[in-house]
Amino acid sequence: MKFFIDTANLDQIREAQALGILDGVTTNPSLMAKEGITGEGNIINHYKAICQIVEGDVSAEVISTDFDGMVKEGEALAALNPQIVVKLPMIKDGIKACKYFSDKGIKTNVTLVFSAGQALLAAKAGATYVSPFIGRLDDISTDGLNLISEIRQIYDNYLFDTQILAASVRHTMHVIDCAKIGADVMTGPLSAIEGLLKHPLTDIGLAKFLADYKKGN
Ligand code: E4P
Repeated sequence: MKFFIDTANLDQIREAQALGILDGVTTNPSLMAKEGITGEGNIINHYKAICQIVEGDVSAEVISTDFDGMVKEGEALAALNPQIVVKLPMIKDGIKACKYFSDKGIKTNVTLVFSAGQALLAAKAGATYVSPFIGRLDDISTDGLNLISEIRQIYDNYLFDTQILAASVRHTMHVIDCAKIGADVMTGPLSAIEGLLKHPLTDIGLAKFLADYKKGN
């Protein structure tokens, strides 16, 4: 399972990278705005900075909602660095643009996916990644993890290459449940990744080992 961090915060990306388990980064316009990154030039420079920190895929989202605009923006983003994955919204023109980019060998991430039917279309269009938003489904009392299971079954039935990128992961149990179901990738905050480290018995056990060592020395 690949681990992506879902942030535009360079310090957090560095911290996750330093752990040695990071496979990539996802961003979106809201995450960029949260870091105060605005204006085309600054956004482009920020993507370049992220690509310098990590070795894996970096999702960069288009703002256009029409086919021509998405193609123009996506081509410019993809030209920045081979690590860039063009992130496209799950709308009609987004699917057309996904097919266009996949035919050209440019990596894509179809985002804002909330149903198995949408995920099926993204795979048919050759998406590299499909991003079902599990946290946002949970927010409206719908089982986000069930969507991951449905997509897993459909993709396995037809051997689609599209990777299931569980997005809108909010906490550590989401990560573990996605791993059990067989999501190919998860993207979440640093806290969800670091939460995997923690167990009170580890801390208690380590404290005892160190105390016993001191007794004998
Ligand atoms: C994924 O690519 C999205 O950027 C992200 O996971 C959305 O998460 P949120 O629902 O916590 O905003």
